[in-house]
Amino acid sequence: MNTYDLNNDLRIGHIVEVSGTTIRVELSGEVNELTRTHAGRVYRIGQMGSVVKIHFGRQLIFGFVTLLRMRSEELLEGGTPIPPDADQRVMEVELFAGGVWNAAEDELNIIRGVATYPLPRQGVYLLTKDELLHLYGAAERQFDDDGHDSLVPFAHYSGADSVPCKANIDKMFGMHCAVLGSTGTGKSGAVAALLHSILEHHAKPEETCHPRIVVIDPHGEYGRAFKQRAVVYRAYDPLGTEATTGTAIDLPYWLMSADEFRTLVIAKTEREATSQNNIVYKAITYARMVAAELVDPSPTAHGEPAPTDGLEPDVPRPRVGVTPDKLTEFDHDKPRPFSLDEFRNHIVYLQAARVQGGRLQTVTATDFAKSFKSILDKLGVLRRDPRIKFLMKEWSATGPTLATVIGQLVGKIVSEHGDHQDIRILDISGLPNEVAGPLTAMLARLLFQYKLYEKVDERERDPVLLVCEEAHRYVPEHGEAQYAAAQSSIRRIAREGRKYGIGLMLVSQRPADVESTVISQCGTWVVLRLSNAADQQHVARFLPDGLSGMTKALPTLAQQEAIFVGEAAALPARIRIKDLGKDQLPKSETAKFARGWSLERLSETEITDVAKRMAP
Ligand SMILES: Nc1ncnc2c1ncn2[C@@H]1O[C@H](COP(=O)(O)OP(=O)(O)OP(=O)(O)O)[C@@H](O)[C@H]1O
Ligand SMILES: [Mg+2]
Repeated sequence: MNTYDLNNDLRIGHIVEVSGTTIRVELSGEVNELTRTHAGRVYRIGQMGSVVKIHFGRQLIFGFVTLLRMRSEELLEGGTPIPPDADQRVMEVELFAGGVWNAAEDELNIIRGVATYPLPRQGVYLLTKDELLHLYGAAERQFDDDGHDSLVPFAHYSGADSVPCKANIDKMFGMHCAVLGSTGTGKSGAVAALLHSILEHHAKPEETCHPRIVVIDPHGEYGRAFKQRAVVYRAYDPLGTEATTGTAIDLPYWLMSADEFRTLVIAKTEREATSQNNIVYKAITYARMVAAELVDPSPTAHGEPAPTDGLEPDVPRPRVGVTPDKLTEFDHDKPRPFSLDEFRNHIVYLQAARVQGGRLQTVTATDFAKSFKSILDKLGVLRRDPRIKFLMKEWSATGPTLATVIGQLVGKIVSEHGDHQDIRILDISGLPNEVAGPLTAMLARLLFQYKLYEKVDERERDPVLLVCEEAHRYVPEHGEAQYAAAQSSIRRIAREGRKYGIGLMLVSQRPADVESTVISQCGTWVVLRLSNAADQQHVARFLPDGLSGMTKALPTLAQQEAIFVGEAAALPARIRIKDLGKDQLPKSETAKFARGWSLERLSETEITDVAKRMAP
């Protein structure tokens, strides 16, 4: 028997209803066992997400199984019971592609979408393994190729374990993607599998891939998976084991936009007070101008002579030799350095000042407490917090520059053993939310700005991918103020990143809680098991037309199994993510209770040590 010949051995039932791309199939009476043996191989019938075919002359039509139930269940809904002997298994199938088999070339030509619709009473057939191979092979060949192979295998097709499933990474990252699934279903494993495959990929036979990938890692789990192929930046190291768990990162506060910095220094409850916001904006602008040597530093004590030009004391006045237009066109959001001391001095000695006897004196204690004190207090607290030293270290002319900061994320880093450390992991575990939010905002915006300011040829040589684990935290549907800034910078990448060569990979176990405008920008979906009905419906809303039926398979997926649909998928498919070894997997957090409880309790000294770490 040849591939795609009509073979009655493979017939499993016939069509009873066609409505749009959904057809209803009644399984033949003889299909009692839901398996069929053909050429020594056992095929399962009616597996959710499995592929079936319909012969239509020389043409073929392909569909997925999205539902399987008894006819009696359907009729009971309508109220008429059905006798058990007349009962039948009924299958719902979503048609997704057509094809023509070319026997001479041993090739299948795929027609995307459905052009010819089948008719009731036509037979429905299983696909043999060979046929599946041809189907997926043909579909993957359809991606046009610019001389670089963009197809990266990261999984296998379910029902055909030996057929690798390849993702088109140009489309996957160019048009953003989402990896979704309930907790513990293998999302991080899927991300790691894809990244490992990319690291091993050769877009041309003689060239290895050096991906620019930045992973925001809120649980500190990815470092272990990539070892020498990654740099792990540890924002905060509560155990003081920096040498073993990561490299310190330079992500200074001055990279922040005025708005991001404001969310950091103004407490959440006071955030709506415009006057407070203005104090921060004015001080940042001034401090940035000082560092750019456009204005003189603020006084460092009270009692300085007041300016006599009739303007408020705190307005910027150009230094000698600087033209005023330099100040009017100054953009306080650019990632220019500024000093925290200067920021503070501007507030204390210029903003919180009044003119008395021609000199600048402090405002009354009440006025000070009303407007300025809380900002300065918060700034003091932040500067003293050991967890965020990497962020709050005072700028100095010899410190990191914008170029060194960007270099950490996308520049070339080679380990002492000669390994290219292509993946940059920012481990933000242990950081308080109020810092993790602005930090993520800053990182996403920095990468976006970097791409924005690249010239066209630089951009082409330097596509960047930002992987955002726990995306519901950074881009929540119902925002927490702490993440408002992160949300707007990630939203910007989602909306405009494609044009500048920066892609997003959103990972979340709570798709319904991720902002819809962001998640709907994703062109590719890897959806693992989702047990929650609200999440399933949510995902169904965003999937391309005709594929929402596939979401019915979501609750039944096995561990590591997923529905793979969208731009990067040759055909929508049910897949199984490839198996990774323990040393390639992200660290799993699942505690082993039975094991732990059979071991000796921590001693008094050990508990004391933990206590010391908790409150040093
Ligand atoms: N590709 C894989 N190969 C081998 N084992 C895997 C793979 N993916 C997941 N696993 C196993 O499943 C466990 C849970 O997977 P993973 O941590 O990826 O889930 P998750 O969906 O990211 O969960 P969470 O929502 O808690 O982050 C892993 O600890 C690992 O044992
Ligand atoms: Mg995970």
